[in-house]
Amino acid sequence: MVGKGIRIEGLRKRYGEGDTAVDALKNVDMRVEPGEVVGLIGPSGSGKSTLLKCLGAVIDPSGGRMTLGDEVIYDEGWKVRDLRALRRDKIGFVFQAPYLIPFLDVTDNVALLPMLAGVANGEARARALELLTALDVQHRARAMPSQLSGGEQQRVAIARGLVNRPPVILADEPTAPLDSERAMAVIRILNDMARRFETAIIVVTHDEKIIPTFKRIYHIRDGVTHEEAGEGRGFE
Ligand SMILES: Nc1ncnc2c1ncn2[C@@H]1O[C@H](COP(=O)(O)OP(=O)(O)OP(=O)(O)O)[C@@H](O)[C@H]1O
Ligand SMILES: [Mg+2]
Repeated sequence: MVGKGIRIEGLRKRYGEGDTAVDALKNVDMRVEPGEVVGLIGPSGSGKSTLLKCLGAVIDPSGGRMTLGDEVIYDEGWKVRDLRALRRDKIGFVFQAPYLIPFLDVTDNVALLPMLAGVANGEARARALELLTALDVQHRARAMPSQLSGGEQQRVAIARGLVNRPPVILADEPTAPLDSERAMAVIRILNDMARRFETAIIVVTHDEKIIPTFKRIYHIRDGVTHEEAGEGRGFE
């Protein structure tokens, strides 16, 4: 079984081949303990989204090693047969753009994943509503995605990333369209999830308000990571 915590060693990713090849990740080392929220910071084009997509099995790395809990999921090739099940059951993804399903209302956008995982409809909707309430969008629970503001859509997408209580959450600029109060609420919820469910969480962000909340930060530049202590100032 895929357990908790993340370990990445010597991860590489090359897009394309020959003259037009881009080495987006050259040498990435990273670890996230269960219950920990770490920041991932770096300039545009430095490889942040590429790193999250590799770890989330959305794209194939070119080399290196990735471990979730005590299971090696990638070692110079995927070691997991069912990548779709890995994505569905182990990884909560909050993308840079919210990608809601246009023909489902807000509640069902969030409740769909637990329903697919076999949770009864009523229970799935109750879990969805609990998160929507924590993210302060419960009043839009019956609206369609096209009727929401950008920030509301993003909060629904965050609820969807968290609803299955996955052991790993990968959030790519989750607070970009939010005001600072709501951004801080998102960080509070992520820290709360981490503590309650021993989730390992990586948050990509440029948000100056959020960066001081991390205890540990990874900087990435030209596809290479460096670890740094954060301020760990908390988020009240
Ligand atoms: N599908 C792709 N094909 C070719 N090159 C790509 C692809 N996706 C990303 N790249 C390149 O890989 C590098 C890293 O891109 P990535 O999206 O990971 O950056 P990022 O750190 O997330 O940037 P941003 O802060 O702008 O979101 C960039 O040079 C980018 O142009
Ligand atoms: Mg990106």
